[in-house]
Amino acid sequence: MDNTLARANGRPVTRWRPRVALASVVVGLSVAATTLAVASGAAAGTTLGASAAEKGRYFGAAVAANKLSDATYVGILNREFNSVTPENEMKIDATEPQQGQFTFANADRIVNHARANGMQVRGHTLAWHSQQPGWMQNMSGSALRQAMLNHVTQVATYYRGKIHSWDVVNEAFADGGSGARRDSNLQRTGNDWIEAAFRAARAADPGAKLCYNDYNTDDWSHAKTQAVYAMVRDFKQRGVPIDCVGLQSHFNAASPVPGNYQTTLQGFADLGVDVQITELDIEGSGQPQADNYGRVVRACLAVARCTGITVWGIRDTDSWRASGTPLLFDGNGNKKPAYSATLDALNSGGTTPPPTTAPPSTPPPTTPPPSGGCAATVSLNSWNGGFVATVRVTAGSTAIDGWAVAVTLPGGATVTNTWNARGSGISGAVTFRNVEYNGRLSAGTTTEFGFQGTGVGPTGTPTCTPS
Ligand code: G3I
Repeated sequence: MDNTLARANGRPVTRWRPRVALASVVVGLSVAATTLAVASGAAAGTTLGASAAEKGRYFGAAVAANKLSDATYVGILNREFNSVTPENEMKIDATEPQQGQFTFANADRIVNHARANGMQVRGHTLAWHSQQPGWMQNMSGSALRQAMLNHVTQVATYYRGKIHSWDVVNEAFADGGSGARRDSNLQRTGNDWIEAAFRAARAADPGAKLCYNDYNTDDWSHAKTQAVYAMVRDFKQRGVPIDCVGLQSHFNAASPVPGNYQTTLQGFADLGVDVQITELDIEGSGQPQADNYGRVVRACLAVARCTGITVWGIRDTDSWRASGTPLLFDGNGNKKPAYSATLDALNSGGTTPPPTTAPPSTPPPTTPPPSGGCAATVSLNSWNGGFVATVRVTAGSTAIDGWAVAVTLPGGATVTNTWNARGSGISGAVTFRNVEYNGRLSAGTTTEFGFQGTGVGPTGTPTCTPS
């Protein structure tokens, strides 16, 4: 009985959920016929999450922690959705209000609610020009770069293993026809700030999918869309760890659902990344709004690597654009025509499930590190004329407070960029030492750093020395 309802919500069937079991008993025989029908598959797809799950996808909502005490809100959330995105609670100003002081209480309320109810979590967002706390707004240069990387590392590490996908970097491209990066304090730390953030996120949580997320990237012909496409293609070619692209998809009369929306989803997917619709809302009402929701959902289902849809709020009154009534439920929590169109599209849309892909991870060292010591392994992503080296440092059977990893570069090779470590030189014998936030490793735990270079990457096993 419990598992049957869990399946109806599109959540893992193996999870024991006492709350649902109790609700089932209370509702009693009146729903028995429906429940049995779901069990036999005849009433498939009666909720957004269940229907999406049948297509191998998730259907999520942005959630605000302070609404988790609203019974109507929570009732819809638990019934309809199998993924959540904290709307504001994981942003930089919320999680690191003072430099080095992290607060996760509100984000934890959402994560705990999701996990207790079998929902997955999208993390939003680790690095962004907006919603920066005051201390970060006032920073620049290498101090800001270091602070940003530390933030990414600390937050992704705290939630390691609990996040399905992270919006690692949000809204880094300019609007309009320039195709340029958005000017910001982060951008002014150097054009490689985005890839540095992705590498730090991968090192902190190798199991999370890492997404680049933006708005006004829905129309394939727009310069901004093509600029993001070029960046993702470049990242894939150079081995920068990226797994997904998030299209926020905020639509209204001035920014309608483009006719080539499916082309855009497929275009990104063809780069070898998942595509996620991350903040969907469509202003309007009645049948026109419903038709637009149907189009978006059908486009996603037609693209095998479009793996999920998140709407940016639950009821119209929860929306950041409340006056545009852009969501699937009205202010009283009633289903709108847009809801029915969405569910119908989910139930009748494409049947190709997305491939189940795990983000790449570096294999653990083959020989255990010595007691009191450490070991390092290097994996290379090489191309003609250059390489990216990812180095995994693992503590032995006792904790260490710092580490130094020595590598030897062949003649002609030069290090051009290093992240999560400091190098002693750029050619020949180079020693990389930990930075402030990744020196301490408890027994058996691992951290990663990396460097990029021209020429041929290091060969042989690096040596690791505790310091
Ligand atoms: O909670 C305080 C409240 O105590 C205070 O009285 C009130 C006065 O202004 O502010 C409230 O905080 C607001 C918060 O939303 C919660 O409602 C902030 O001022 C306001 O800036 C914040 O807006 C959020 C916005 O991002 C800026 O971070 C919206 O809720 C949120 O929906 C929106 O989400 C963004 C995505 O992160 C990125 N993509 C675009 C999307 C829509 O703008």
